[in-house]
Amino acid sequence: MHTPIPADWREANRAMWDERVPIHYGSDFYDLDSFRAGKDALRAFELAEVGDVTGRSLLHLQCHIGLDTLSWARHGAAQVVGLDFSEPAVETARSLAQEIGLPPDRAAFVAADVYDAAEAVPDSSYDIVYTGIGALNWLPDIDRWAETAASLVAPGGFLYLAEFHPLTDCLDDATGERIVHDYFSREAWVDETPGTYADFDAPTVHNRSVEWQHPVGSVVSALAAAGLRIEFLHEHDTSLFARFPVLERQPDGGYRFPAERPRFPLMYSIKATRPERLL
Ligand SMILES: C[S@@+](CC[C@H](N)C(=O)[O-])C[C@H]1O[C@@H](n2cnc3c(N)ncnc32)[C@H](O)[C@@H]1O
Repeated sequence: MHTPIPADWREANRAMWDERVPIHYGSDFYDLDSFRAGKDALRAFELAEVGDVTGRSLLHLQCHIGLDTLSWARHGAAQVVGLDFSEPAVETARSLAQEIGLPPDRAAFVAADVYDAAEAVPDSSYDIVYTGIGALNWLPDIDRWAETAASLVAPGGFLYLAEFHPLTDCLDDATGERIVHDYFSREAWVDETPGTYADFDAPTVHNRSVEWQHPVGSVVSALAAAGLRIEFLHEHDTSLFARFPVLERQPDGGYRFPAERPRFPLMYSIKATRPERLL
C-alpha cells in the first residue's frame, strides 16, 4: 500500500528490526558460527570496488548486527564504527566484536538514527563511509541522508554504497517481466508481512514496516549535491538472493538471469569521494 509518510515510521521500523535481531542471531542465513570461525560477510564485488582498507578508519551506517562492519576490520581497517538505530542490533554487534577479539578502540558500535549520525559517532569524519545492502529503502529523505553521510567523509576519503536496484521492486515478483509499480513513486510502502528474509516462517508480532523507493538518479544527484565527486556508478546483473524465481544460482553464490533472458540491473554500487579541498 502506498501512503504519505506515516507518523510512526521510525518507531514501527525500529520495533520491527528489534524483534528480528534475535531471530537473525540464531539463523542459518547469518550463520554466526562460520562468521566467528573467520567467514567473510562481505561480497567479492564490494571488496574489489572498495580496495585495500588497511590502516583506514571506516564508518558503517545501518550496520545491523555488525558482520559487515567487523569483516572490514578483519580486512585490516584500523578502526571501524557501526551505527544502527536498533539497540539489540548494536548490543549483538558489540558482543560479536568481543568474541572475535576486536576491542572497542578497533570496533565500536553506536545506537542512533542514521539522520543523527554526525552527532552520535565518536569522530567527526572517516576515511571510508560504507553502507547499503538493504539500507536506503528504510529512509524517507535521501537528500538529508546524503548530506549526513557526506559530512562524515574525511577530505580525500570516500563513501561506498552497494544496494539492491530499485527497478527490481517495480517488477512483478513472479516473473520479473512486467512493470507493476511506479519507479518514481515518492510515497511510503507499508507492509505487514510477518517473518524475515532470514527466516520466512519465524513467528513475529512487530510486522509493520515503512519503506521508500529511491531512484538511482536521486541517490547519485543527492551525493553530488552534498559535495561528493562520483567516481563510479556500477550496475550489476547479479543479486545476492533469488529476487525473481527465474534467477539461477552461480558457483560464486550470486544469482543471475539465464542466458536466454534479457537482463536488467539487480544491484548497483557507487563510490563517491570528498575532494581534499573544496574548489
Ligand atoms: C537490511 S539491514 C542491513 C543489512 C546489513 N547489510 C546486513 O545484512 O547485516 C537494515 C538495517 O538498517 C537499520 N535501520 C533502519 N532504519 C534506520 C534508521 N533510520 N537509522 C539507523 N538504522 C536504521 C535496521 O535496524 C537494520 O539493522
